[in-house]
Amino acid sequence: MKVRLTEVGPRDGLQNEPMTIPTGVKVRFVDALSKAGYEEIEVSAFVSPERVPQLADAEEVFARIERRQGTLYSALVPNEPGLERALRAKVEKASVFTAASETFNRKNVNASIAESLERFKPVVEGARAASIPVRGYVSTAFWCPYEGKIAPEAVVEVVRGLTDLGIDEISIGDTIGKAVPAEVMTLLDRLLDHVDQDKLVMHFHDTYGTGIANVLASYERGISAFDSSAGGVGGCPFAPGAAGNVATEDVIWALTRSGAILGPDLDRVRAASDLLEAALGRPLRSRVREALSGAKPQAR
Ligand code: HMG
Ligand code: MG
Repeated sequence: MKVRLTEVGPRDGLQNEPMTIPTGVKVRFVDALSKAGYEEIEVSAFVSPERVPQLADAEEVFARIERRQGTLYSALVPNEPGLERALRAKVEKASVFTAASETFNRKNVNASIAESLERFKPVVEGARAASIPVRGYVSTAFWCPYEGKIAPEAVVEVVRGLTDLGIDEISIGDTIGKAVPAEVMTLLDRLLDHVDQDKLVMHFHDTYGTGIANVLASYERGISAFDSSAGGVGGCPFAPGAAGNVATEDVIWALTRSGAILGPDLDRVRAASDLLEAALGRPLRSRVREALSGAKPQAR
């Protein structure tokens, strides 16, 4: 089965770094990722620069990256002012975001779930008018750092709200990386009664080491789109304890060896991670990256 990967490292990864990464490093990171051949790279976020100063240079990053044909360059867009900024920056896909937990949503975007869906209406209309697709994220779909376990019904309700708005695809987020495959399969079984599997994307963080198991469980259920970050960077500043996304290198390795066909090239993703690792000055977290560092080609 063909699998589509969205690289979220430049956005999810860099929003959570304590240090602000120089714009030039971000541009080089995205350009290195582009060479790997992704279907989509989430480059930055047009959110409040006061709330997320790490990504305050979204416009400049979009202006300076080299766009590769065949890759969609997307960004988070929380509201209408965000869409105006995004369209000026020639974003190719807008990603709105809400949650299945009221408390997390309030802390993240200062709105109830219903209010955030209301905010998305003009964003979806504006994106349609500009002929760009819209993704909708549902965060805390399994566990919330404030409310604990989230009922699958709550996720189904938000997903229905998003599909009613005409959103093109829905990314289901395990924001704090606490889900296990049994929970993933239970939620997918419920969701697939309401939404076409081609519209679903799974977004796993890897706090407790079950990220790859969750990817594989979703793949077995027919899901063919995933979010991941090069070198496993990532986390949400408003979700305490959240570790990085599942590492792209690990996802490529596990899915390719399970028979999936993926766009990005593993060695080129590793090269992009090398660049970021040097800039961050700390080792990145990917088992495959560690295993392959210095390994001879036949060791694969
Ligand atoms: P608000 O807090 O409700 O405030 O914003 P507001 O709408 O009243 O505006 C307050 C100020 O922000 C105003 O400026 C606005 O102009 C400005 P002031 O008048 O005070 O000078 N403002 C903006 N400026 C630039 N761009 C904008 C924008 N909007 C308002 N788009 C808002 C609501 C959502 C914007 C804010 O709360 C925010 O930016 N929150 C940050 C949310 C965020 O980025 N979270 C991390 C990403 S989500 C995530 O990581 C989860 C995910 O990975 C999936 C998963 O893992 O589950 C996607
Ligand atoms: Mg995330």
